[in-house]
Amino acid sequence: MRVLVLGSGAREHALVARLAVERDVGELVCAPGNPGIARLARTLPIDLGDVDAVLSLAEREQIDFTVVGPELPLSLGLADRFADAGRLLLGPTAAAARLESSKAFAKAFMARHGVPTARFRICESLDQALDSVRRDEFGVPVVLKADGLAAGKGVVIAEDRAAAERAITDAMQERKFGAAGDRIVIEECLSGPEVSFFLVCDGERAVPIGTAQDHKRVFDDDRGPNTGGMGAFAPSPLVDAALEARIMREIVGPVMAGMSAEGCPFRGFLYVGLMLTADGPKVIEFNARLGDPEAQVILPLIDEPLLPILVAGAAGALRNAPVRLGTDRLTGVVLASRGYPESAESGQAIHGVDKAEAIPGVSVFHAGTASRGGEIVTAGGRVLTVVGRGGSFTEAIARAYAGVLQISFDGMQYRHDIGRKALAHDA
Ligand code: AMP
Ligand code: GLY
Repeated sequence: MRVLVLGSGAREHALVARLAVERDVGELVCAPGNPGIARLARTLPIDLGDVDAVLSLAEREQIDFTVVGPELPLSLGLADRFADAGRLLLGPTAAAARLESSKAFAKAFMARHGVPTARFRICESLDQALDSVRRDEFGVPVVLKADGLAAGKGVVIAEDRAAAERAITDAMQERKFGAAGDRIVIEECLSGPEVSFFLVCDGERAVPIGTAQDHKRVFDDDRGPNTGGMGAFAPSPLVDAALEARIMREIVGPVMAGMSAEGCPFRGFLYVGLMLTADGPKVIEFNARLGDPEAQVILPLIDEPLLPILVAGAAGALRNAPVRLGTDRLTGVVLASRGYPESAESGQAIHGVDKAEAIPGVSVFHAGTASRGGEIVTAGGRVLTVVGRGGSFTEAIARAYAGVLQISFDGMQYRHDIGRKALAHDA
């Protein structure tokens, strides 16, 4: 099969690394890719916001099957275009991707189908939002979310009423998130550990492909601003077989049935962000794609060929059998540029990636990197993910950080505590 992977991050590098060694993958193409991916697949430039250009590329390259990494092309209707053109692609239609691209849609959908989530109000106007906060509808802290895609920055947890009013004015009056903040969701603040639950869905069936825990804040001990994710470990020791069954029954089942009933069956990767509250698992958010850096730690644990699962998802033909997962532990540490997440330096020479990759049990995935005259330099906020694999979290963490210590670039920053939360669960 001629396979196309869309995206340019470490998540896509992990997908490509996985597919590159599979029997049914003939030619592997990635667009736009990055220098790490270019060692494993042919890379072609593309603007992922240009849906027609992506379809032309797939036609020109006679691609049999396309996998989509990021959410943007999905929210713009890439899956719809491919379906109209009769090309197989794993990813939801724009209508189904609203589970991620509109928080108001996702919340109202959950309410319609009895999916457990934080109590909420959808506000269409500044007055309505301010009124909710002034009435103390959900107490404090209170959570405010821009409705649309806001690159992970659209959520504010306001500690008091003044902070909540400020966040509302920022979004709805100052239009800090542009049109994405013209509608906001106000919701009750939940507490409990957060876990990410991943599935491949075929419109009707959904099969779990792993769990992980992300580290969203930029600094150690969960301090500092939110980022796209500074590291992750898998599997989440908090999700045992009983909890998985409960999540499937109370959340995934109603989501699949509900999307189908509403005329937009969900096909593609589904990423359920959960908070494990005292009242059971509740949905914090959905994403219509794999997570980054979660993909880098869950994909290597899938203990059977991945391509047939992805193709079956796209074709509406998933087997009802569980996907086999290995028993290893994985930890991924993100190396970021100085200034991330507010800004990011670029153009710094990166050293030592080959030395890190030479350590048994260590893999390095590229994200914001570029080639410059034969050397690899930084080109963005999140630069690399260094993944360690072992029989325990202790071993996986030690390997990941042994890899990290081999790598250097000016301004390199990373968290030192990735995976620490999991250590208490090592046997
Ligand atoms: P989201 O972009 O929806 O994942 O939100 C970003 C982060 O905000 C989440 O990972 C949570 O840590 C936090 N968050 C979102 N919604 C809530 C909530 N209702 N209660 C507590 N924390 C939340
Ligand atoms: N790591 C969080 C995300 O991919 O959205």
